[in-house]
Amino acid sequence: MDIIRVEGGHLLEGRVAVSGAKNSALKLMAATLLAPGKTTLENVPNISDVHVMGKVLKYMGATIEVLDEHTLCIDTSAVNSWEAPYELVAKMRASTAVMGPLLGRMGKAKIAMPGGCNLGARKIDMHILGLEALGVEFDTDHGYIHADASKGLVGATVTLEFASVGATENLIMAAVKAKGTTVIDNAAREPEIVDLANMLNKMGAQIAGAGTPVVTIEGVDELHPVTHRVVGDRIEAGTFIVAGALMASDAGVEVVGFSPIHLGMVIKKMEDMGIVIDRIEGGVRVHRAERIEPVDIQTLPFPGFPTDMQAQVMVLSSLADGNSIITENIFENRFMFASELVRMGANIRVESHHAMVHGVEGLSGAQVTSPDLRGGAALVVAGLIAEGYTEVSAIHHIDRGYERFVEKLRALGAQVERLTVPDFIDD
Ligand code: EPU
Repeated sequence: MDIIRVEGGHLLEGRVAVSGAKNSALKLMAATLLAPGKTTLENVPNISDVHVMGKVLKYMGATIEVLDEHTLCIDTSAVNSWEAPYELVAKMRASTAVMGPLLGRMGKAKIAMPGGCNLGARKIDMHILGLEALGVEFDTDHGYIHADASKGLVGATVTLEFASVGATENLIMAAVKAKGTTVIDNAAREPEIVDLANMLNKMGAQIAGAGTPVVTIEGVDELHPVTHRVVGDRIEAGTFIVAGALMASDAGVEVVGFSPIHLGMVIKKMEDMGIVIDRIEGGVRVHRAERIEPVDIQTLPFPGFPTDMQAQVMVLSSLADGNSIITENIFENRFMFASELVRMGANIRVESHHAMVHGVEGLSGAQVTSPDLRGGAALVVAGLIAEGYTEVSAIHHIDRGYERFVEKLRALGAQVERLTVPDFIDD
């Protein structure tokens, strides 16, 4: 079993460059299915979720050449299958992002039903309702969703009940090849959606309004392969900014490779907490907080406060001078992290989707378990300031979305290492 062990109390300094965004790269990889030929993606993070998406595409007949650690050339000329099998979807729900592109390219898709995950039920009903409006017929059997657009995809107006990231992306990727105009009302506005629309437009699609609540897509007959650079990972950046706010030396920590505008609400809330964040070329410089003010945060779709930064900022609030309230509105099950942080001495009471965080003077290192990707990273960050050693297990969650997390922290001066330890056997 691999764990990450952190020795708390070491100051951080220097500059860290974030990788390309996981949640963009995965969808851009899926979108290559729409443009038969060789698409080159640059700034692709070398993380396990990207490896799974690579396997999904290969399963369908694509070939992937790794040009360098962060550049993939994906050749989708020979794609001849429209199935995303259970073994891969079970590993990564985002595999369902191939549904829209497969419908656009082949007029059909067979996708294993994703089921829930440790963030909650995570339904895909809005993906299905939206695609039905475009003329797709659905059937389910033996744990698979069969989507059939053999009568042709036809543009329509779709109002999403909630600004779902995944539903917006799947709809865009199907609508680019539909006949006529599709309007997505109450579309998600995340920067990763803008990145997807930018690449699709380079490929010849006609998408207007990405990044606003109304996205309009004029269908085209064909898309062509391109070269595209994945946008920087705002959540990885936010995670390092929290690390800096806790432990930066007097010179501060520079976090670069992303656009601070993509992290607007996180930076605003951290500034409300008394943390000094300077804008610099390509990112920010963060200074260690002398005193952390309590905060009220509720997670919301972009440009609101991202659910993917909730755990990291909870670490900060756990050390605030007063009581904070954190409300989780996106996922029903994203407070499992709080109980792990309590093991490190935090004082947090969770009631339904609210967490009442009573600031404490300090955290103490403990053995804790990553509940999910962001929670796992937040525990490592908590370990940076905790007294003594923190050992974080179930770090495969962290590997899904943070490239070389330990190495990047070490380069800043953190005392952190990845260790293989024997599994505990109790009989
Ligand atoms: N939802 C439905 N029905 C649907 C679609 C969504 O009920 O058809 C619900 C979900 O169950 C959830 C909420 O709506 O409670 C938000 O879901 P959304 O579709 O917006 O999220 P997603 O596409 O499943 C992406 C990211 C998540 C990120 C969320 C919100 C990827 C691969 N994942 O998920 O990233 O938290 O958007 O911004 O893009 C992460 O990186 O750690 C992560 C979980």
